[in-house]
Amino acid sequence: MARLARAARDGGRAGAAAVLPPGQQVFGPAVRVQDLTVAFRTPQGLLPAVSGVSMDLVRGQITGLVGESGSGKSTLALTLLNAVPDPGSVTAGSVTIEGVGDVLALHGRSLRRVRGASIGYVFQASQNSLNPLKTVGKQFLDLGRSHGVGDLRELLHKARTLLDDMGLDPHRVLASYQHELSGGMRQRVGIILALILNAHVLILDEPTTALDMISQAAVLNIIRKVHSEQHLTTLIISHDVGVIGEVADRMVVMYAGRVVEEGPTTELLASPRHPYTRGLLAAMPRITGDIGQARPLPGRPPDLASVPRQGCVFRPRCPLATQACGDAEPPDTVIGDRRFACFVAAAEAP
Ligand SMILES: Nc1ncnc2c1ncn2[C@@H]1O[C@H](COP(=O)(O)OP(=O)(O)OP(=O)(O)O)[C@@H](O)[C@H]1O
Ligand code: SF4
Ligand SMILES: [Mg+2]
Repeated sequence: MARLARAARDGGRAGAAAVLPPGQQVFGPAVRVQDLTVAFRTPQGLLPAVSGVSMDLVRGQITGLVGESGSGKSTLALTLLNAVPDPGSVTAGSVTIEGVGDVLALHGRSLRRVRGASIGYVFQASQNSLNPLKTVGKQFLDLGRSHGVGDLRELLHKARTLLDDMGLDPHRVLASYQHELSGGMRQRVGIILALILNAHVLILDEPTTALDMISQAAVLNIIRKVHSEQHLTTLIISHDVGVIGEVADRMVVMYAGRVVEEGPTTELLASPRHPYTRGLLAAMPRITGDIGQARPLPGRPPDLASVPRQGCVFRPRCPLATQACGDAEPPDTVIGDRRFACFVAAAEAP
């Protein structure tokens, strides 16, 4: 967690976090989400879990999506695969992926082809989602067959190489069943399954949540390594701002289905503008290195039915709320490559 403490200390002077080396730098998003709203049918009616979200995944960068449980992170990420679960649906907006186009317009076979071949996805709790009845090797072969891969020997060869790169014994892992692997090993297998078909966009939903600190650090190192070696565009999702701070180039903060703040990770850690981001960081002892200074966020995040219908959605928990915050939702304020949605932070901004 050295990077967190460093960013907090140096006021963000380290600048934007790791980018591709000169010569490999490319500009423009690999994924563009525009005005996206995803709603679930509930006994109280159709309620949005993601509300008017716009964000880019910049090509070659790691974007970190952070927010408390229920903020809509997984719903947003699943929409990138056009895989919103029932009883949910996209009610507005678009998702465009480089080389694929409008993902929300794809169905059936063309959608299945894109999943895995263009977008690799490691699902939340994926360490428990391997098939318990088949060896890992058999699962790689099944994946290859389902995507019409002609040379399955080559596919297994690639799997062995990636397993070896990730510090695992390829022969043992390929011959193992899920229960014979540790959580960290299963998480690594999940990442390889997501990458084996040469996806250029990788989405990891809570890849370290169930792991101990040592395995967590190992998996984060592997994500960084694979990301840069395979020139990926990566989205990593976590409720733990420490994980995102450690690994992401850019950070996107979600609250109640909205993006409330976004920017380069080092800058955002050093000078958070939105009161929610400030609260998340203050609750994180790893930022300051002093557990005694951690201040938990007051209150609880809303569920779909209790999100305020008018004004700023963070108002019930916000220490800076004013009368005006109850009248309308704060619009985005954009300053350089940062943005935030807060009336008070906008008024404070230079
Ligand atoms: N299938 C569903 N039916 C009804 N509501 C749902 C469904 N899936 C998610 N939701 C609701 O949508 C909101 C966002 O859920 P989501 O799983 O996207 O949050 P999250 O940020 O990924 O949370 P966590 O950190 O716990 O994984 C929550 O209020 C959740 O209860
Ligand atoms: S707009 Fe108002 S209530 Fe919302 S985060 Fe800013 S100060 Fe708090
Ligand atoms: Mg989730």
